[in-house]
Amino acid sequence: LSYEVSMDFWINGRAVSVDIDLRTSLLDLLRDQLSLIGAKKGCNQGACGACTVLADGERINACLALAVQYQGREIVTVEGLADSHGRMHPLQAAFVEHDGFQCGYCTPGQLCSAVGMAAELARGVPSQVTGDVAAEGIALSRDELRERMSGNLCRCGAHNGIVAAIAETFAEGKNAPL
Ligand code: FES
Ligand code: FES
Repeated sequence: LSYEVSMDFWINGRAVSVDIDLRTSLLDLLRDQLSLIGAKKGCNQGACGACTVLADGERINACLALAVQYQGREIVTVEGLADSHGRMHPLQAAFVEHDGFQCGYCTPGQLCSAVGMAAELARGVPSQVTGDVAAEGIALSRDELRERMSGNLCRCGAHNGIVAAIAETFAEGKNAPL
């Protein structure tokens, strides 16, 4: 019995064809087979957010996703956030400016999660705490930002810088989803 299949993916704007074991997680495909090691394996059980990537613009935990589910879908990892000229995404620049990281282990997941959050706001996904939908152009409170980023943990305690970076980027309207 073979679990090997040939599959086509669309990752960071490039078509990728690869033979995978059907049981391979999206995270293991990215890291082990495609050498995209930005997304990290922290808990490998959906608790820390270090593995967060974007699938068709939605933030997902790649450790919980089977790669085969994402055939033909558009995957973006932290390696794909910079523009075609290599300029950092505004959120990346803001993380640098606000010391939004220390060891950097959680940072790729934080960045992808924040980009995904921007897409959720654009779609009108309400807060899970207040039930409110953020009106377009209204600055989110720090508490709301923290709640919406609560799936991404930082063991270094850089949360204040992370929230400051995201708040500034959103306030300046540079949070457009990819
Ligand atoms: Fe996926 Fe922790 S490694 S959530
Ligand atoms: Fe070290 Fe967040 S910067 S875990």
